[in-house]
Amino acid sequence: MDKRKVVICKDLKVELEAYLKALKFDKVFILTDENTLKDCYPVLKEISLLSSAPVFTVGAGDTHKNIDEVSRLWTCLCESGASRNSLLINLGGGMITDMGGFVGATFKRGIQTINIPTTLMASVDAAVGGKTGINFNGLKNEIGSFYPPLCVFIYNKFLRTLDHANILSGYAEMIKHALISSKEVYADVFSFEPDSGDLNQLDTLVAQSVAIKERIVEEDPKERGIRKALNLGHTIGHAYESLSFKKNSPLLHGHAVAAGLIGELYLSHKACGFPMSELSQIVYYIKTYYPPFIHDCDDYESLYELMTHDKKNEGGVINFTLLSAIGEVQINQSVDKQQILGALDFYRESFGI
Ligand code: GLY
Repeated sequence: MDKRKVVICKDLKVELEAYLKALKFDKVFILTDENTLKDCYPVLKEISLLSSAPVFTVGAGDTHKNIDEVSRLWTCLCESGASRNSLLINLGGGMITDMGGFVGATFKRGIQTINIPTTLMASVDAAVGGKTGINFNGLKNEIGSFYPPLCVFIYNKFLRTLDHANILSGYAEMIKHALISSKEVYADVFSFEPDSGDLNQLDTLVAQSVAIKERIVEEDPKERGIRKALNLGHTIGHAYESLSFKKNSPLLHGHAVAAGLIGELYLSHKACGFPMSELSQIVYYIKTYYPPFIHDCDDYESLYELMTHDKKNEGGVINFTLLSAIGEVQINQSVDKQQILGALDFYRESFGI
């Protein structure tokens, strides 16, 4: 059997069918959200081994990534006779691959999972690398586990159905991968114009981006060290995202990360000497394509409080992943509260809000 963990496929039906034929499992189940049930599941249904597999469906959107839905899915698996030798196929965006991964990791202490990401965000990030989890207590991905899927099938045709906002959301993680990687990758990624709709160029960049993530995860699967590089933009980004949920105007994850990148590259400049010229270029790019996250300084205490829950923190200190240059990652950087508030100001000033 093909041992590759991530397969970028030209024909999902043919390649998944061949993979499943070589795999041992007693029953197979498919998890979708209401959109992927309509738009993507028909491709799976054509595979004979999957044509009568039970399908569990949850509502679309990150607010469904919660313990009540997990409990409902455990019940569905129990009632459908799933065993430890069963297989769960997660067909969807990051919400589905995160939550389905967690259900798979915990049901009977772990069943086999396969991820089939259907968004750019999930293809380049969420579905790859084995992080699973759900939101809890108003905090992003607070409960979860490291539980790698058997395989990830990326099928670019699914990306053709995405709207512009979702392309931009995934693209933010590609920008992050470029920044932690090298000037060459950075140049490639920043040459892409999200408004151009050149999805062939995007396909090449997706493969490059996934390879960057896979390399890092292979070196540090449980995030003891260098995997923290993948959190660039996420300490502030997750705080913006959680606050946007509280304000009932939810940001897409990647839009929050793009906003977080601005603040964290500002901190990189202040604390690690990241060049101002590159900071200005990145701010300009993000401002050109991403909508602003509207908030004001009365939100700063809530944002700071949210950052105190970041999973990278140690001993009550907020730890950031910063850069001293493109491709030069500095993990475990503690920054004082005044500097963090300065980064929040910098974001608002950059967008003129
Ligand atoms: N999304 C960051 C990671 O997988 O480590």
